[in-house]
Amino acid sequence: MSTQNTAPATAPDAGLASGRIQQIRRYLMCRPEHFTVSYTINPWMEPANPTDTALAVRQWQTLHDTYLALGHKVHLIDPIEGLPDMVYTANGGFVIDNVAYGAKFRFQERVPEGPAFMEWFRANGFQVVEPVEVNEGEGDFLLVGDTILAGTGFRSTGDSHRELGDVFGKEVVSLNLVDPRFYHLDTAISVLDPVEGPGGVEKANIAYLEHAFDERSQAILAERYPDAIRVADADGAVFGLNSASDGLNVIISPRATGFEAQLRERGYNPVLVDLSELLLGGGGIKCCTLELRR
Ligand code: ARG
Repeated sequence: MSTQNTAPATAPDAGLASGRIQQIRRYLMCRPEHFTVSYTINPWMEPANPTDTALAVRQWQTLHDTYLALGHKVHLIDPIEGLPDMVYTANGGFVIDNVAYGAKFRFQERVPEGPAFMEWFRANGFQVVEPVEVNEGEGDFLLVGDTILAGTGFRSTGDSHRELGDVFGKEVVSLNLVDPRFYHLDTAISVLDPVEGPGGVEKANIAYLEHAFDERSQAILAERYPDAIRVADADGAVFGLNSASDGLNVIISPRATGFEAQLRERGYNPVLVDLSELLLGGGGIKCCTLELRR
């Protein structure tokens, strides 16, 4: 049982005893300096409700600092005035092996973010593939082992799933989202285990919210991931699944208490970070985090 990569300050005995191994990640984040809710493109967004940008920045900073404390590397993209949703960097693209498949946003309000992220990828040494099809990056695409799970129904199109498969040459499994509250795949599925790691594909596992999917997709998930954590509706409703795992530590909302217990039972180390202010925009921990796979 190897422990060499674990962060001693946060890795509990449970995690070590269960043999969970932390993988160091590289993330892209964007400080929410211009965060507010000025339009509605998902059911969480209510422009009449006040937002507190300073609080959003403080909560975001805690998430940022938590990643650093766990040993991860965080890159930052400059926030752009007038693009209040840019903090949700998961939507900025999808990156594997230094190739960044750019985002093409569904709603006009976010369209300018697509080129801004592609510009960042180029300036930072990634090979950029400009998208033809509408897609919202890692919000809807999740790498699990060597397979990409791809969501559709609200944002990314089915055609983008085909384009994604062509770009990366990997198997893409399309899943249909049916509940408007869970409009991106990363609000309904959390990838728990190392994307590529000692256990390889077999070790890859997920947690998910069954009711966010149509029957066909539920059957696919049940068949492919018999050991998945099925999360209760109450935990899903507080964006419990919108979490980031490094294979040992899983950063989750403190409101997702049932999910927290399930994670502990399985030997993961839940780390609680509250992004209540960013939930007003319909986003959580994973939404604020884009993985940069080199
Ligand atoms: N207000 C943003 C939108 O509706 C939130 C994006 C959340 N991001 C995510 N990866 N789920 O597009």
